[in-house]
Amino acid sequence: MADKIVILTGAGISAESGLGTFRDEGGLWAQHRIEDVATPEGFARDPALVHRFYNARRVQAASALPNPAHAALARLQRDWPGEVVIVTQNVDGLHEKAGARAIHMHGELSCALCAACGHRWTAPLEMSPGAPCPACNRPTARPDIVWFGEMPYHMDEIEAHLLSCDLFASIGTSGQVYPAAGFVQEAAYAGARSIELNLAESEISRAFDDHRTGPASEVVPAWVSELLD
Ligand code: APR
Repeated sequence: MADKIVILTGAGISAESGLGTFRDEGGLWAQHRIEDVATPEGFARDPALVHRFYNARRVQAASALPNPAHAALARLQRDWPGEVVIVTQNVDGLHEKAGARAIHMHGELSCALCAACGHRWTAPLEMSPGAPCPACNRPTARPDIVWFGEMPYHMDEIEAHLLSCDLFASIGTSGQVYPAAGFVQEAAYAGARSIELNLAESEISRAFDDHRTGPASEVVPAWVSELLD
């Protein structure tokens, strides 16, 4: 039976598609305070500011194109004889644009959520405060993004994949945000081999058996070719 591969991706895989990362020089968290734009308290305090932040990212992500790293993962998911599960911390739709399926543990820019009734729908490019929920009509629409202090999505499903995989790969993440930063330990505990593909040393590099250092658009296609060809 072919190995089961679980892949975690972070903002670094989308950097070469023109989407900013969070903690690199001049990144999103250098331009905005997390507590103002990525917490429930920030949204309650100033929903217009939070919508402006996500509207700008949604518009940019809508016109962004997948890069060779996204394409390589879609190829791996299509051609690998075993199961390939992509878990992404990213809220852009670039894995899907490349033809891959991904589990979005931090939500998606393209999705809106009703804070009152839980209804989800395709977000308009630009959302505004007090927009009514199409289902319950209350003015409680919000970006379907997991903010700091909120529970990431699909954790039961993700845990089950980590405990049953043979190879765990981490691509383009700084390993500074949990629970994603702890996935390598869970997979290793369950007996998986691990590899990190990243531009630079991360907080969790020492937890990996193997490393490929460089831009994702180069190291990810090379790694996929090693596996498939
Ligand atoms: N190729 C590969 N890796 C890259 C590239 C690139 N071209 N450019 C940057 N990187 C790496 C950086 O070295 C860094 O380790 O990508 C990582 C980006 O780290 P972060 O900006 O911290 O992004 P991420 O790890 O995805 O953040 C995790 O934090 O703010 C929250 O919810 C947000 O999902 C996000 C989470």
